[in-house]
Amino acid sequence: MTIKTVNQIEIITKEAGKINSCNMPDYKAMYTGFDWKNAYDNVSWFDNGKLNAGYNCFDKHLGTPVENKDALIWEGATGEIEKYTYGQMAQLSNKFSNVLTDTGIKKGDRVFIFLPKIPEVYVTFVGILKTGAIAGTMFSAFGKEALIDRLGDSEAKMVITTPELKPRIDEIRDQLPKLENVLVVDNRDGQDIRQGELSYSKLMQGASDEYDCVHTDPEDYSFMLYTSGTTGKSKGIVHAHLGIVQQDLTANIVLDLKEDDIYWCTADHGWVTGVSYGILGPFSNGVTQVVYEGRFDAAKWYEVIDKHKVTVWYTAPTAIRMLMKTPEVADNYSFKSLRYILSVGEPLNPEAIRFGLKAYGLAFHDTWWQTETGSIMITNYCCMDIKLGSMGKPFPGITAAIIDDEGNIVPPGTPGLLALKPGWPSQLREVWQNEPKFKEYFETGWYVSGDKAYEDTDGYFWFIGRADDVIMTAGERVGPFEVESALVEHPSIAEAGVIGKPDPTRGEIIKAFITLREGYSASDELLDDIKKFVKKHLAGHAYPREIDIVESLPKTRSGKIMRRVLKARELGLPVGDVATLEED
Ligand code: WT7
Repeated sequence: MTIKTVNQIEIITKEAGKINSCNMPDYKAMYTGFDWKNAYDNVSWFDNGKLNAGYNCFDKHLGTPVENKDALIWEGATGEIEKYTYGQMAQLSNKFSNVLTDTGIKKGDRVFIFLPKIPEVYVTFVGILKTGAIAGTMFSAFGKEALIDRLGDSEAKMVITTPELKPRIDEIRDQLPKLENVLVVDNRDGQDIRQGELSYSKLMQGASDEYDCVHTDPEDYSFMLYTSGTTGKSKGIVHAHLGIVQQDLTANIVLDLKEDDIYWCTADHGWVTGVSYGILGPFSNGVTQVVYEGRFDAAKWYEVIDKHKVTVWYTAPTAIRMLMKTPEVADNYSFKSLRYILSVGEPLNPEAIRFGLKAYGLAFHDTWWQTETGSIMITNYCCMDIKLGSMGKPFPGITAAIIDDEGNIVPPGTPGLLALKPGWPSQLREVWQNEPKFKEYFETGWYVSGDKAYEDTDGYFWFIGRADDVIMTAGERVGPFEVESALVEHPSIAEAGVIGKPDPTRGEIIKAFITLREGYSASDELLDDIKKFVKKHLAGHAYPREIDIVESLPKTRSGKIMRRVLKARELGLPVGDVATLEED
């Protein structure tokens, strides 16, 4: 990455007329003197100063015109469509809160959702929050190890799954002594519930649709998500109910959601985007959400937009780059309804923005944030000129800075660590049962994100790369250690080192370097078997697409595999010059 000089920067200038229709017409005016306390009243509080994020999704809209509006338009993988109003969702989530209470779930207990993208995700997530229990979500592509790590570390009391995904839980259940119940969403394919399992359909049928939402404290925990770092297993990032203040406001200001919007967030609920902007923020704003269960397919995605009249679309650079591969497909669709589009998860390259302008007549607005931040921190606003390739400016109430290793702010144009001043409402509250990992984020007095970036003289932030070994593949964050651990479980592998290798579509792909145990030799079958093994053990998205079998791996004196050396070799960079690895 080279730092751009002024005349290399392409700018999309906002037209004055359009700015007036933005929910935030003047960034500077809102940023200056912004106080989070003033945003507190945008969400619904209980009289006693308590706040429940779940209550803010459906219940607060009862008795308003939103009650009879669709909260959810769901399209299944095979084309079936289901619609649910806010009123219905309030009732269904009440029922589910009663189901949880009847099975002994109490405030603070962890309940995990291991479901495909079906309407029950929204019913159960909100139902959990309303009981004061902590909701955890898991991606449906997770395998055995990923599931054990999450359910084991969090000591989850219940997991909610489908007959199809359940065998993966069955396989590990005896290793999860704290897991009391497996609740099966069985009404979709009629499979029988076995002993030791609970039937969602039966329990929901028998449950009352009235429920008194638990008056949680704003600081009580609401949801948790596991995410990867450079070292060790994934960390349980825990969020508090107060975060809804920020998810609500950013959905309004950044996603620019308005009353009549039909909004589509393509992220899975197993990742933070699918929670903060696939559940909390949009529902709190009372818009209609489209959920499409099926996999990526350019024609199908465009059909979803036209058919359901999507107005605001939040997606990711890898998806955009995949759409760019078949530009002609866009010619068959009108995109008439579409008025605002955004991106998150990886660097949004200028080509992707130019493509959006051509294909849909709209510019993608980049948003930068993380699992830990709970909501969007830096972004290009509706009312602000876009500098192509820049992530934009910090949200009102957020102080972002580029710092050195000691926490000193560096001058504009200087690469450094992207940091945030702690204390925003949706900030992580804890790394589950891991105080040292939690403290690591704040050692300099700043919250240090793990990303490298620079700020230009206009206050725009530009992404450079990760400051650590974390891999971002197709917008998903993968820790090399977890992949290495899964690899060395394979009988043929002695040692493994894993890196992210730049890839034109996926941002990075996972590449593994392995040494073989005695008695094994390289073959295509072996490599295939290793890939399948990691998919099954860890996760469908976290397997190495490329594997090199090597004689030995570069190590430090203490025996630590030097991933940076592997990366330098892979990229053909001088090995001694590893500090500049990601700077191109
Ligand atoms: C990491 C966080 C929060 C949504 C999805 C990912 C990368 C995120 C951008 C962006 C360049 C980005 C960073 C960050 N990232 N947004 N706009 N431009 N990189 O959440 O899984 O916690 O990953 O995603 O490297 O640290 P996550």
